[in-house]
Amino acid sequence: MIAVILYERPFKLELLGRSILKDGEEWPFTVRKSSELKEVLMEPHLMGPDSTAYYMFRGIHQHENLRYDITLIESRFYGDEYSKTLGHYHPPSPVSGVQFPEVYQVLRGKASFVLQRRRKDETVDCIFIEANERDSFIVPPGYGHVTYNTGNSPLVLANVVANFDSSYDEFLANHGGAFFCTKFGYKQNAYYIIKKQERLAPRQINKRYGLILGDLLEMFHSMPEKFDFLEHPEKLPVFP
Ligand SMILES: [Fe+2]
Repeated sequence: MIAVILYERPFKLELLGRSILKDGEEWPFTVRKSSELKEVLMEPHLMGPDSTAYYMFRGIHQHENLRYDITLIESRFYGDEYSKTLGHYHPPSPVSGVQFPEVYQVLRGKASFVLQRRRKDETVDCIFIEANERDSFIVPPGYGHVTYNTGNSPLVLANVVANFDSSYDEFLANHGGAFFCTKFGYKQNAYYIIKKQERLAPRQINKRYGLILGDLLEMFHSMPEKFDFLEHPEKLPVFP
């Protein structure tokens, strides 16, 4: 097996098959199986044989209450729907009551993200983001999110986030996110009423919140204070 070098600096990070090696040591991981996704699939009857859907490598680098994780999502289909994560919301910060945001970067492969935020009247606003290798962007406060691997190779995705417990309830109760990403485009999930939907490029959503994001590992390692807004969402430069 040939190792793919993801980073030489600030430490060596390699992908070897489905393992991540930090300075030559295999990093521990947890997995989610496709059977655990059955509830949230557009076509659960087309799930196919149970297998590992994605691998989660947590806390590869940490600074105080923030951590850098990697997720590897297999390339496959569930019926017409692309391979995906279960979907979750973040809790509010106990200090400000604003939900914790998150930043993502595609390291290898191609991804689509469905972001959704519930309004007081129970309708939902959605943002679709398509991201290629090196793209990094913010998932703003209040937005639940599902990641899709829309490429034909494993998607290797990094994120920086504060330590908290995510909530999966809304995605499980509504049989998935507000839209499903399929080989025929985005299909609405009938369990939701959509108020607004828009497609934004990674840099457009960053700009909306007053951010310019470069390489996440490089930034987080050398200037962790730049990510203070992840733990203190009220410090985001712009609240549109
Ligand atoms: Fe998240």
